[in-house]
Amino acid sequence: DGLHSLMVKAGKMYFGTAADVNSFNDTEYMAIMSNKNDFGMITAENSNKWDETEAVQGDFTFTKADRVVAKAKQNGQMMRCHTLVWHKGLPSWGNLAFSPCVMILLPPGCADSLPYSAVADSAWTNETLIAVMETHITNVVTHFKGICYAWHVVNEAIEDIYNPGYRETVFSKVIGGDYIPIAFSAAAAADKDAKLYYTDYGLESMTEKLNAALIIVDDIQSRGIRIDGVGLQGHNIVGATPSRASLGETLRNFTALGLEVAWTEVEIRHGQLPPNETALQQQAQDYAAIVGSCLDVKECVGVTIWQFTDKYNWVPQSLPGEGDACLWSAEYQRRPAYDAILDLLRGT
Ligand code: G3I
Repeated sequence: DGLHSLMVKAGKMYFGTAADVNSFNDTEYMAIMSNKNDFGMITAENSNKWDETEAVQGDFTFTKADRVVAKAKQNGQMMRCHTLVWHKGLPSWGNLAFSPCVMILLPPGCADSLPYSAVADSAWTNETLIAVMETHITNVVTHFKGICYAWHVVNEAIEDIYNPGYRETVFSKVIGGDYIPIAFSAAAAADKDAKLYYTDYGLESMTEKLNAALIIVDDIQSRGIRIDGVGLQGHNIVGATPSRASLGETLRNFTALGLEVAWTEVEIRHGQLPPNETALQQQAQDYAAIVGSCLDVKECVGVTIWQFTDKYNWVPQSLPGEGDACLWSAEYQRRPAYDAILDLLRGT
């Protein structure tokens, strides 16, 4: 019995993990990652992002991404593909990575702190940026046709520090909110089978963000453009993770619109390290709440953790002093949360 085999027995499609080529020479890592009992779905943590697939404008390269696909195929694992349009993981050409707010926390209204011309100077016009975005999506989605169960077409398009309008990125500043349905339209044209998702974080804890995501979904659907699902990333904090019932309610906001849902990037970090026994038990409870919320909602297809070991999880580098977030420690010791999920699934 493992995470994936028990999720399938519970009627779900998968339990999965993010993984990427940076850990492919780590034999202990690969032994766990390749165990289909635990993981039936793989997400390339970085290799499908724009800066990896089109580092030079018009020049598409999939070397790293194809290695992840090959490994998943060898293990009999499915692929969830991440991500086509996002304000990070962008190449430097054309000032694509330009975003007035992305790196500094300016006072509310920060988008107005840099004149529109600052963005327009990035030399993009509405038409040229739409063409570049559509070309990117068409080439990348076509390359992975028949491989990706789902694509994260647009990721994190909603601001969360200020009034939750569109996050200020080159796409929103030059094209406006239309970039989102345009992106979904291009992805749908390139692959009629892959499920097309909008993904974001904090939907389970920031009501304004949840409402903004519902507006994004409605905007796409009202134009008759295909969107199949919403992915809630699920980056959470021990002791501050909503309850199983609350998480289920959040998921139902989206399934009520005819969508499927998934938890796409779960890890639950400790704010104080090292965690004491109580904190480890709370972490186990919080992981069980997220998995439980997927069990409780029929249209939830599965749960993906954002790496299974702290050795490769983004939190320690990005949030110093926080971490111990994964189901396995950096030394590949399972945490209580692993068994809590198995117990939950066995009890279903
Ligand atoms: O591959 C280059 C390498 O060639 C270079 O030597 C090295 C040093 O500059 O950088 C390497 O790229 C790094 C990449 O991870 C691969 O390790 C990037 O700098 C670094 O920014 C990137 O961080 C990733 C981050 O997204 C930004 O793309 C994290 O690993 C990844 O966990 C994180 O994941 C995001 C999801 O995509 C979206 N949701 C939030 C989540 C956490 O931030």
